Amino acid sequence: MEEQLEQIIDSVINDGYAVFDGFFESGLIACLRNNLLARHEAGLMHPAGVGKHFTFQKNLRVRGDLISWLDEDSDDACERKFFERVGELMRYLNRTCFTALNGCEFHYAFYDEGSFYKRHLDQFHHDSGRKFTMVTYLNDDWNEADGGMLRIYLPDGSTKEIVPLGGRSVFFRADQLEHEVTVAHRQRYSIAGWLLSL
Ligand code: OGA
Ligand code: MN
Repeated sequence: MEEQLEQIIDSVINDGYAVFDGFFESGLIACLRNNLLARHEAGLMHPAGVGKHFTFQKNLRVRGDLISWLDEDSDDACERKFFERVGELMRYLNRTCFTALNGCEFHYAFYDEGSFYKRHLDQFHHDSGRKFTMVTYLNDDWNEADGGMLRIYLPDGSTKEIVPLGGRSVFFRADQLEHEVTVAHRQRYSIAGWLLSL
């Protein structure tokens, strides 16, 4: 546990991002995927807003995912367990890196076939409390041919593509790393969110 947390922090410091598998156990991932699908089935997922001055039409040219926010006080045991794990990560960061994190926000994201999210930064104009981005994939399995890769743009001009495998998480500073989601050729499920310092 501590070892994995240490590796995450090392990677973020050295590489600017961390990719890690199994931070959330596979049963929890399956449960969260079922929750996402149930919300989608019930029509509870909606298009997200992008930035401050974007209209709905512009949004659709930037991102096509449907989202639904999670509630930290959810009745759902899996969602509470998810927030417990995130809390452990936040406390570890605060203890070892003096990050002063004091909140978080997460949403389910559903990318239908053909959806994407163009290159962007998650923190706009340094006016948000979003310090770190964390995305966890809920897909059953995934091949490169399925598209929907997370492409990150590193400061040296190179790019790196991450396969959205179920149970995999990606972690990076929200104000520094530009990234995009390439066109998904099948439905793509995730929980994306931010650790906050407000
Ligand atoms: C986001 C985002 C990346 C991904 O939701 O802001 O960039 O791989 N998601 O889903
Ligand atoms: Mn993003």
